[in-house]
Amino acid sequence: MARHLITSAIPYINGVKHLGNLVGSQLPADLFARYMRARGHEVLFLCATDEHGTPAELAAAKAGKPVAEYCAEMWQVQADLADGFRLSFDHFGRSSSEQNKALTQHFAAQLDAEGLIREVSETQMYSHTDGRFLPDRYIEGTCPNCGFDSARGDQCDNCTKQLDPVDLIEPHSTISGSTDLEMRETKHLYLAQSKMKDEIEQWIDTRVGWPVLTTSIAKKWLNDGDGLQDRGITRDLDWGVPVMKDGAWWPGMEGKVFYVWFDAPIEYIACAQEWVDAGKGDDWERWWRTDKGADGVRYTQFMGKDNVPFHTLSFPVTILGSREPWKLVDYIKSFNYLNYDGGQFSTSRGRGVFMDQALEILPADYWRWWLLSHAPESSDSEFTWENFQSSVNKDLADVLGNFASRVTKFCRSKFSEAVPEGGTPGPREAQLVADLTARLAEYEAHMEAIEIRKAAASLRAAWVLGNEYLQDVAPWSTFKEDPAQAAMQIRLALNLIRLYAVISAPFIPDACADLLRAMKAEDAQWPESVEAAVTALSEGHAFDVPDVTFRKFTDAEREEWQERFAGVRT
Ligand code: MF3
Ligand code: ZN
Repeated sequence: MARHLITSAIPYINGVKHLGNLVGSQLPADLFARYMRARGHEVLFLCATDEHGTPAELAAAKAGKPVAEYCAEMWQVQADLADGFRLSFDHFGRSSSEQNKALTQHFAAQLDAEGLIREVSETQMYSHTDGRFLPDRYIEGTCPNCGFDSARGDQCDNCTKQLDPVDLIEPHSTISGSTDLEMRETKHLYLAQSKMKDEIEQWIDTRVGWPVLTTSIAKKWLNDGDGLQDRGITRDLDWGVPVMKDGAWWPGMEGKVFYVWFDAPIEYIACAQEWVDAGKGDDWERWWRTDKGADGVRYTQFMGKDNVPFHTLSFPVTILGSREPWKLVDYIKSFNYLNYDGGQFSTSRGRGVFMDQALEILPADYWRWWLLSHAPESSDSEFTWENFQSSVNKDLADVLGNFASRVTKFCRSKFSEAVPEGGTPGPREAQLVADLTARLAEYEAHMEAIEIRKAAASLRAAWVLGNEYLQDVAPWSTFKEDPAQAAMQIRLALNLIRLYAVISAPFIPDACADLLRAMKAEDAQWPESVEAAVTALSEGHAFDVPDVTFRKFTDAEREEWQERFAGVRT
């Protein structure tokens, strides 16, 4: 038994996430956490909301609410949606927690003690109308790189170039629209990342077996310059972790807060403290401190590709630079983007299907199955309604759901609602067991390696084997000549329902729980072997015919939804 620490990139607080966000971190992390728990490992699975920075302040202003109140409400909304999608976090924390505040201040002080913080005087845009500095998203203008006219102060959304507010052409305040701006001196703390370049590079070079997507992005950032320059880690904002040390303002930093990307990853650690403080665990240090047992932990992070530089470079600088025994990540699983019906999902434009809308129209399992089996692993992938419909109707309804209902109904009508007796398995059954054994081994290997699409394909192939068996042996015909032989075939098939429910649960937990309940299966342990699993429900074991596990959706529904989500969310 191993110990797995698993984190998902923490979603921004400002609004409900779309399905592209979901499949890029939280959902695959949940799949892995569920699988590792099912295999008997000890798992701590953490996620939180990312609450600081300009996105939160601006969203709160738009909603006409104080930012703390807005964040508390949106945390609840996101927590409920996470439950709706059956994301099995051990704790869903908040980066605005007291724990994170203290830990963020601790890291800054520690990095300072190690000579990695310096104070820099720089010019920032100051708005006379607003009476404040305008960092990051508080300022927009024309991108000096591509000419896009609504580039933000920190980044151009069109060409993705990282920007500084002073680079923008014809800048204006996004609060008041004012162009009455001036460049003013202000002081900030910088993290001397450049001093850590060799150490970080060496660390990355020694990460054997990391996904190419992860290491190629990290190396690109390291070598193309932008990556490990010293970086401002404070901002002139009200909302955030105050730049304090030992309970007093850091001299010269009065009224400032840490940059959101400095405190957000630290929340991965603070979240474990929140988990303990909420009474759900009793020791967070054995997960995070290598001097307190975390050296025996395997730590896996999940994230979209845009988050990779922060997790391969900046956060490791914080961890390593502190010279304290914090646990470093062991494996980073990153994802490309999911597109929506010929374009991009977009939060700012409200394009695509958002988590709340998805659950309004279909249960979580339908989305989980499609999203995971089409996870954008080796390249970007695309959601289309046709593809979604065919995947649900074929894989879930025709292959898995239909198997369960045919077998149980046939048994009820010809025998009873109990596993029938009689007959002896022969070569065809031995063949099925051998084929399933191979598929299961393949499935397990893909799950261990977090090759999600491949795992989904192996799982589906295991479902298909059951259908092919039924097709071949045709118990409905066998029954006429040899009821005992038909009983044996059905007994095997009933056991397959239980086996499928156990191994498919990480993907589609609700349907599997329903199936296990219907089969009245007491033992839902991961199978030792297929051979043992196919006799787990013994002769005479009672069951119920499950209610429809998956329903097909019609062309009319598909068209209606396609239409409804074609426009822009309001
Ligand atoms: N909120 C960020 C995003 O959605 C992710 C932050 S991950 C963390 O892109 F490491 F900073 F926590
Ligand atoms: Zn640009």
